[in-house]
Amino acid sequence: MTGTGQPAAASGGGSAGAGPDRSAAASGPPPAPAAADRARLHEILTATWLAQGCYALAKLGLADLMAAGPRPVADLAGASGTDARALSRMLRALAAAGLVAEAVPGVFGLTPVSAPLAASAPRSSHDAAIMFGEEVFRSFADIVYTLRTGQPAFDKAYGRPFYDYLDGSPEAARTFSAAMGEAPVPASLSECDLSAARIIADIGGGNGRLLNRVLRTNRGARGVLVDLPLAVAQARARLTTAGLAERVEFVEGSFFGPLPPGADVYVLCRVLHNWGDEDASRVLGRVRDAMGGHGRLIVLEELLEGAGRTGAGGTVGDLLILLMLSGCDRTRQEYLSLLDRNGFSVAAVHPPPERAGHPESAIEAVPRR
Ligand SMILES: C[S@@+](CC[C@H](N)C(=O)[O-])C[C@H]1O[C@@H](n2cnc3c(N)ncnc32)[C@H](O)[C@@H]1O
Repeated sequence: MTGTGQPAAASGGGSAGAGPDRSAAASGPPPAPAAADRARLHEILTATWLAQGCYALAKLGLADLMAAGPRPVADLAGASGTDARALSRMLRALAAAGLVAEAVPGVFGLTPVSAPLAASAPRSSHDAAIMFGEEVFRSFADIVYTLRTGQPAFDKAYGRPFYDYLDGSPEAARTFSAAMGEAPVPASLSECDLSAARIIADIGGGNGRLLNRVLRTNRGARGVLVDLPLAVAQARARLTTAGLAERVEFVEGSFFGPLPPGADVYVLCRVLHNWGDEDASRVLGRVRDAMGGHGRLIVLEELLEGAGRTGAGGTVGDLLILLMLSGCDRTRQEYLSLLDRNGFSVAAVHPPPERAGHPESAIEAVPRR
C-alpha cells in the first residue's frame, strides 16, 4: 500500500518472528489502515464539499458581505438571496472546518483562511474560487473519462475545448483572466538581463502583469502584448491605470497566427504548458517567424524535475492541465527538445530563486541560424 505511511513490519505484530506465522501474514489480507490514515482519506474525500462551500461564499458575494465583520445569518441570506436555513447549515459546516467563524450563535464572519474569497480583499482569490468551483469542478467530475481516453474531461463536459468555450462565454473568460491575473510574475524572470531590450513582446500576456513589471524596471523599453480580446482589454485597463499604456502595442489575436515582428525579446509565460507538443510547436514556429533570426525568447514554465520542482504543487497543476486542456507540464529536457525541434538553441536555464516561492524557471533561447 504505497503512500499510507504504514511500515510493512508493523503488520507482523507480536508474532512476526515465527516462521509459519510470517508466511501466513505475507499471504493474508493487507493490514488495515491506521486511524490517522483513515482520517486523512476521509478528509480528502470530503474536501470537495468544503471547496464548493468556499466557491459559494465567493459566487454569492457572501465573503464580501462578511468582509467588514460578522453578520447574522438572516442578514446574509437577505442580502445574498439565499435560503436562511440552508445558508446557516452550510456556514456551520464551514465553521467546523475553520473556514468561517461563528462569533455568537447564528452570526458568522470570515477567518484569515477565507478572507481572500472576498472580491474586495487584497490579492483576492475570489475569481480563482469561482473558476475552481465551476469549470474545474465539473471537469474533475469526469476524471474517469480523461483516464480512459487521455482526452480533456473539460471538452466532454462543455462540448468544446477550453479556450473555444472562453471565447463564447465572456463572464467565464473574465473570471478566468482575473484568476490568472493573481499568478505572480515568475521571480526567475529577474535572472534574465533585459537592460538592452528596446521592445519586449509578451505573447499570451494575459492581463499585462508581466509587462507592467518589466516596463517599470526597464524605462527605455516598449512592450507588445498579444492575447485574445478579453485579456487584451484587461491588460489595456491595467497598463492604462499604471500610466504605461502609451508604451505598449496591444494586439488582439491568436498566437497560432502571425505575430508582430521585430521585438528584441519574446516572452511565453505559462503558455506552452497549456498545449500538447504539436500546438506548442505551432506557437514556437510563429514566434520564430516573427523573430526572423534575431532576438531572444524567454519561456517561463515550471519544470517537472530538477531545481524548479516544488513537490506536490507541480504534480497537481499537471493534473489540472490534463483534465482541462491538451497540454502538460514538462521536464527540463522535454522543453529543451521542444525548443530544439522548433529551431531554437537554449542559451541558459535559470531556476527559480530559492526564497521567491515561485515554481517557474526561465529558459532563454535564441533562433538557430
Ligand atoms: C495560463 S494564461 C498565462 C497568462 C500570462 N502569460 C501569465 O503568465 O499570467 C494563458 C494565456 O494564453 C492566452 N491564450 C490562449 N489561447 C490563445 C491564443 N490562441 N492566442 C493568444 N493567446 C491565447 C489566454 O488568454 C491566457 O491569457
